Amino acid sequence: MTRVLTGIQPSGALHLGNYFGAIKQMKNLQDTSDLFIFIANYHALTSLKDAKALKQNTLDAAINFLALGIDANKSTFYVQSDVKEVLELYWILSSYTPMGLLERAHSYKDKVAKGIAANHSLFSYPVLMAADILLYDAAIVPVGKDQIQHVEMTRDIAIKFNNEHGDIFTIPEFKIDEIVATVPGIDGAKMSKSYGNTIDIFCDVKTLKKTTGKIVTDSTPMDAPKDFSTCNVFALAKLFLDAAGQEELAQRYKKGGEGYGHFKAYLQTLVWDYFAPAREKRAYYLAHIDEVYALLDTGAKKAKSIASKKIEIIKDAVGIYH
Ligand code: ADP
Ligand code: TRP
Repeated sequence: MTRVLTGIQPSGALHLGNYFGAIKQMKNLQDTSDLFIFIANYHALTSLKDAKALKQNTLDAAINFLALGIDANKSTFYVQSDVKEVLELYWILSSYTPMGLLERAHSYKDKVAKGIAANHSLFSYPVLMAADILLYDAAIVPVGKDQIQHVEMTRDIAIKFNNEHGDIFTIPEFKIDEIVATVPGIDGAKMSKSYGNTIDIFCDVKTLKKTTGKIVTDSTPMDAPKDFSTCNVFALAKLFLDAAGQEELAQRYKKGGEGYGHFKAYLQTLVWDYFAPAREKRAYYLAHIDEVYALLDTGAKKAKSIASKKIEIIKDAVGIYH
């Protein structure tokens, strides 16, 4: 089975864009590939300097992903910092990473432009990402568009290394799910934490009602027929409906007689019901935190059994004594 690997930044509440843009695909990949998923807490450290928050976010991410259907028995699910070999490889790869390559990174330049302190880890972030990927010989790396360049840099580093030492690393390819359209936020722009326009998966019903109530619509009167194709409420509801359900909702728009408030209330029910099983699972894990630790430990052991063998081959190739 093809090894597919992806990292998750532990950065707080998950929203519908995260679920339909990424997590749902990961769930499918569990059945069709040898999937490695890890929580990139060392990457998060580059911009989060609050120890308590970083620990909490890491654990929250684990609980949320397990609740949403990441199955620790099907995939290898672990926390990045639990496999220390990744930091050894990070340093080794640093010696094979030209400065010019890192200087061209958009993500670094964007973060600095946004005012994040330009420290060394932020700059060398792509090298750690390369180590994440190359340590496990991942063939495919599913990522969001903003991460494509990082995977390309991983390829460059791996090719440079292989040219000097033989075929040590698998050259990975990125994978973007083109079928998944961008999920709009409540203002119609791309749903994103940084825009404050999200509908969060695990919010309470009151908050859900409030946020769905704020979705921007036009001001077509209640009785008049409405254009579903340009409506943000419809675009979100569609994610939860099969073809017949979408058609039925489209007819309600076309018919008139219902206001946007009705459609928002319907969307609220769709969201709430869809995530009911995940909410229950999450409550269970919150009450049984030891089980979460045990699952992460199993994942770390599985990952480590591969990483520890690979790092010896790499160290041997570059001449590191052991
Ligand atoms: P945010 O923009 O809220 O910070 P992230 O950048 O952390 O979200 O995204 C994590 C994952 O979720 C990525 O794979 C990204 O492509 C996906 N994702 C985030 N927002 C959306 C969206 N609005 N539509 C589709 N996918 C999204
Ligand atoms: N940088 C990625 C992000 O912000 C997370 C990440 C870290 C990752 N290491 C990775 C993704 C390795 C894929 C492969 O989303």
